[in-house]
Amino acid sequence: MTDNFIGKNALITGASSGIGKDIAYIMAEKGINLILLARREDALIKIKEDIQDKFSINIMVIAADLSQIPEYERIYDECKRNHFMPDFLVNNAGYGTLDSFHKISYEDHIKFINVLTTSVVSLTQLFIQNMISNGFGRIINIASLAGFAPASNSGGMYTAVKSMVIKFSEGIHKEYKDNNIYCCAVCPGFTHTEFHDQMGEFKSSIPSFMWMSSKTVAKQAFDETMKGKDLYINGGINKFLAFLMWLTPKWLTNLYYKLIMRKRP
Ligand SMILES: NC(=O)c1ccc[n+]([C@@H]2O[C@H](COP(=O)([O-])OP(=O)(O)OC[C@H]3O[C@@H](n4cnc5c(N)ncnc54)[C@H](OP(=O)(O)O)[C@@H]3O)[C@@H](O)[C@H]2O)c1
Repeated sequence: MTDNFIGKNALITGASSGIGKDIAYIMAEKGINLILLARREDALIKIKEDIQDKFSINIMVIAADLSQIPEYERIYDECKRNHFMPDFLVNNAGYGTLDSFHKISYEDHIKFINVLTTSVVSLTQLFIQNMISNGFGRIINIASLAGFAPASNSGGMYTAVKSMVIKFSEGIHKEYKDNNIYCCAVCPGFTHTEFHDQMGEFKSSIPSFMWMSSKTVAKQAFDETMKGKDLYINGGINKFLAFLMWLTPKWLTNLYYKLIMRKRP
């Protein structure tokens, strides 16, 4: 028997492109109403119009910058005021950093932490209350295979924040699964989206067999979270790499990382 989610609501962060946008279409097809959130309001409105041409669901757009902590309560208030409280929360917004740690300003480090972790924790805390009252909640946290990788030199932060999201998701799942609230850390590897657009030669140095489509990652993220998994690594190659990272001595994984990162701008 397939689950019937018609009429439920989902909040998706980072819905203006890539994995978040593809999750929006997957949920729309299932009759789930959508709250699409990102900074680029024009892109969100275009996606809203296109989805509403195809599916009869309600969609609300919220333009918000998740690097700004006061935005989290404004997002909550806007959902509440519009009687549009999410049953599904997709914490997906994110980006990478390129420079060395010391070249990135203190303010930019804080913004990065806010988008990739503080917003995940805060939106979960704000919206889980309603999920508990309703006896239903599904939280998809887009982490990364990088969360299993040895510490990288991409600003020193990306692997650190993604491993935090993995542990956080597993903890939430453990604590609330008996309330019928599932939380899954989804861990994609290299995925075709706007994420790598600024990385030039680095992108072309990654062999094609290591890439997945954003649509496949999005579909797996939804399906595996609904099954009640607390952790999902997308694709056979990425699962194998995660296993190798767990198995392999630190010096060897560091060497692998050095080779992968050598074309980084
Ligand atoms: N692509 C990969 O290879 C890969 C691999 C592993 C994990 N991931 C993770 O997957 C998630 C989605 O990334 P993607 O690959 O789909 O990249 P993407 O196409 O660049 O999408 C990123 C989304 O995040 C939003 N965003 C960025 N900064 C934001 C901010 N300050 N406030 C609100 N929204 C913000 C962007 O919207 P606006 O610019 O409109 O704000 C956009 O919708 C990220 O968490 C990323 O770390 C990606």
